[in-house]
Amino acid sequence: MKGTFITFEGCEGVGKSRQIRYLEDYLKNNGIKYYLTREPGGTEVSEQIRSVILDGKNVAMTDECEALLYAAARVQLLKEVIGPKLEAGELVLCDRYIDSSLAYQGYARGLGVDFVEKINDYAIKNFMPDYTLFLDLPPEQAFKRKGGVDKGDRVELSGMEFHEKVYNGYKQLSKRDSERFIVIDASGEKHETHAKIIKALKEKGII
Ligand code: TYD
Repeated sequence: MKGTFITFEGCEGVGKSRQIRYLEDYLKNNGIKYYLTREPGGTEVSEQIRSVILDGKNVAMTDECEALLYAAARVQLLKEVIGPKLEAGELVLCDRYIDSSLAYQGYARGLGVDFVEKINDYAIKNFMPDYTLFLDLPPEQAFKRKGGVDKGDRVELSGMEFHEKVYNGYKQLSKRDSERFIVIDASGEKHETHAKIIKALKEKGII
């Protein structure tokens, strides 16, 4: 791979989308060329797979099927977009990637890291990110910041338990793969978090 591949990870509500927007502004203002994509999605086929996965009507979908669909959307995105961009020497940013599958399907759904790694063999063997920015904020704090779980929104207790598992999964992954993971404390003010991301990317010589 000639280019640089950076992925963004984190639990729901940590401000990932906003931080990616801030980073885009920074890159544009500094004349740094990049390509931003997201998972699941990023190609026509992968976006179609995304709508099947996230369709609330598909209650019959098994955890295994879900994990395989994420992997299928990923292979398409890699072959069609990310691979060629990296080959051309570009800086590629991806909103979620393999670690989402490991944290959500592997840890939180309980399929196990081995199973998820096996079905993501193509991504793991050929396209591991150079760095993964993990926005670290425990779900409880993220939901509090959003207005709280007590207000009776989508997140009930069982939902919270799931998000705790996702979070603990990410923590384990960040320890296991400490060279690749850049852990960003996202508990502060949004501009502080942005500054931490820029600092980390500069330290790694990416920008
Ligand atoms: P999205 O609306 O993009 O969420 P976010 O803004 O939090 O990134 O929806 C993506 C959802 O898919 C999110 O809940 C995480 C989940 N996901 C997995 O469970 N496994 C995966 O491999 C990926 C890429 C995403």
